[in-house]
Amino acid sequence: MWGGRFAEGPSAIMREINASIPFDKALWRQDIAGSRAHVAMLAQQEIVSTEDAEAIDGGLQTIAAEYERDGVPEDWDLEDIHMTVEARLTELVGPVAGRLHTARSRNDQVATDFKLWTRDAMDRALDGIAALQRALVDRAGEHAASVMPGFTHLQTAQPVTLGHHLLAYYEMLRRDSARFSAAQERLNECPLGAAALAGTGFDLDRDMTATALGFDRPTANSLDTVSDRDFALDYLNAASQCALHLSRLAEELILWASQPFGFVRLPDSLSTGSSIMPQKKNPDAAELVRGHAGRIIGCTTALMVTMKGLPLAYSKDMQDDKPPVFEAAGLLDLCLAAMQGMIAGADFNTDRMRNAAGLGHATATDLADWLVRAADIPFREAHHITGAAVKLADSKGCTLEDLSLEDLQGIDSRLDDRVRAVLTLDASVAARRSYGGTAPDQVQARAREARQALGME
Ligand code: ARG
Repeated sequence: MWGGRFAEGPSAIMREINASIPFDKALWRQDIAGSRAHVAMLAQQEIVSTEDAEAIDGGLQTIAAEYERDGVPEDWDLEDIHMTVEARLTELVGPVAGRLHTARSRNDQVATDFKLWTRDAMDRALDGIAALQRALVDRAGEHAASVMPGFTHLQTAQPVTLGHHLLAYYEMLRRDSARFSAAQERLNECPLGAAALAGTGFDLDRDMTATALGFDRPTANSLDTVSDRDFALDYLNAASQCALHLSRLAEELILWASQPFGFVRLPDSLSTGSSIMPQKKNPDAAELVRGHAGRIIGCTTALMVTMKGLPLAYSKDMQDDKPPVFEAAGLLDLCLAAMQGMIAGADFNTDRMRNAAGLGHATATDLADWLVRAADIPFREAHHITGAAVKLADSKGCTLEDLSLEDLQGIDSRLDDRVRAVLTLDASVAARRSYGGTAPDQVQARAREARQALGME
């Protein structure tokens, strides 16, 4: 391939450190699609004859069928997927194969292949996110009025509904989805024709190859084109943030599935047992979603650090771009699917949730709000009076609702029996009807909007 100027071949170490075929063989479909687009354009521009182009295209189709059937052979001497395909093409069609690489370098070739692969990975992420969102929205509609404790500092704060809690994750995923879509739009410029770094003296039709491969346009600067891995970083950044969201949901499921909480039973199909403790059912899938988020973030850091400080244009460091993206994409696809299964199959214990919401004086804010509304007391003062009621209830070991009229009036004469109506869990959530609040009718309205946005109705 490049032996002309060398007196001796590469050492065994050189062959091993240089070979990317063990991982970049994953790009074979993209590589062949890129080559077919390139040779068709060379023929149209009369840079290669129609007969030669047809021979090359036929050979490329044969190779695709072979790889589909038998997989891609791994020969370190051939370095990478680009040379592996070209070597096989030469075996199949003879020296005419050498015309394929006219006006092309592996630098614009690999950028094209990797962009095509990453574009598909973004499609998979978008599909996986939408499937999980559909599960969340289904379960949220089911549980729009199921009361559970809402926490801050993991201390009971105010009652919320389970539907509201689940839709919080719908929103995070909506932003993740927007990040992948924006990244996909930014990615969609075709590198082919940038050649090694400076462009080419051949009269190419870059719009033709861009269109053939589903890009919106060709890239505008050849140096940037072969040096750019922003699209891979965009994928990894979006994947990291999405994985971070999944890890928070995973953490909550793990907590909720624990015996002291008992809020949820996860599907058996996504849990495991213990080899020693017969009673155990462990939330391993959720724990691995939580763990994989760390690996995905690690992949992102790996590529960031690889690209940092690289001078223009291509350097071989950039060959290390693919493993982190492949790894992160495999993990993210799995995490999204596992989470979809857990949410769709979760058996929520709404009695346990309601009981837990009744602990910790979750409706204390409602008492303070009532004092503001019914007795026109400034909120800060109402907060203080309510604090005294909480203290008294705690000392009596009862709930706010259980305090007697004498108890209440002993704290403040403006408190009376009417306050009890706002202290129930259902009254508390029903009152929070501000846009985006936890009231069941609000949750139903947001769930309906989400269903429409997802094309579910
Ligand atoms: N295997 C290489 C990579 O993945 C292809 C580009 C090689 N280019 C070069 N100038 N050696 O980056």
